Amino acid sequence: MLEINKIHQGDCMDLIKEIKDNSINLVVTDPPYNIGWKYKAYNDNRKDYIEWCIKWCIEIIPKLKSNGIICLINYPENNNLIYQRLLNFFKFVQQLVWCYNTNIGHSKRKYTRSYRTILVLSKGDNYTFNPILQEYKNPTDPRIKERISNGSKGVTHYDVLNINLCKNVSKSKKNNGINQLPDKLVNFLIKSYSNKGDLILDPFVGNGTVFNQSIYLKRNSIGIDINKYQEVSVNSSQG
Ligand SMILES: C[S@@+](CC[C@H](N)C(=O)[O-])C[C@H]1O[C@@H](n2cnc3c(N)ncnc32)[C@H](O)[C@@H]1O
Repeated sequence: MLEINKIHQGDCMDLIKEIKDNSINLVVTDPPYNIGWKYKAYNDNRKDYIEWCIKWCIEIIPKLKSNGIICLINYPENNNLIYQRLLNFFKFVQQLVWCYNTNIGHSKRKYTRSYRTILVLSKGDNYTFNPILQEYKNPTDPRIKERISNGSKGVTHYDVLNINLCKNVSKSKKNNGINQLPDKLVNFLIKSYSNKGDLILDPFVGNGTVFNQSIYLKRNSIGIDINKYQEVSVNSSQG
């Protein structure tokens, strides 16, 4: 059995099998995006990418509790294909959009990519959901102004999240942090779809963002990565 509150080195396709059945409340993960990144032990350029994603998702199913949720962060074109295939195994909850500012990746042939999607799927109907209020994006709209003046706290629920990338200058950036998720995004997903004491899995833990935020938010966690994880202290920031 894989030890809890530990990051394990190995191929997640093998190590997921070693997790106790029916023990995981939430999976939050961004696998390699199949765009040729160099991840030391892994060549991020698979011909069978979507098939591979489906395979490890299927390995996760028996490990999830009946009210478990899986949040898959990826580019929309990948998530759209993954979504089609996973509907045979999971129930669709929703697709969130994570938008970020970026000054890289410009092309003369297309618009600059500045969002990813988060495919939220559940194993059963009774999944955990703790909706998080966010500030109105249009506080100057007369109807919203009126709502606020009538006592509304100026917040509502959105499925589009505007959260900055974890940049090289971010406080929480790890030295080896390629493709490091922002703490704020991970924090949002963990709080939304789990409770204190729950067990959270990230089978592609990278710099440990999901693992560290899980511990910070008083959840338990299992991290897996094919590369050696460089121990970092539990992160209490959201920057
Ligand atoms: C997009 S990065 C994850 C970044 C992470 N969310 C963070 O915030 O730092 C993908 C990770 O998947 C790992 N990886 C690639 N293939 C793997 C496999 N078969 N099993 C486990 N980890 C793998 C890579 O080493 C890399 O760290």
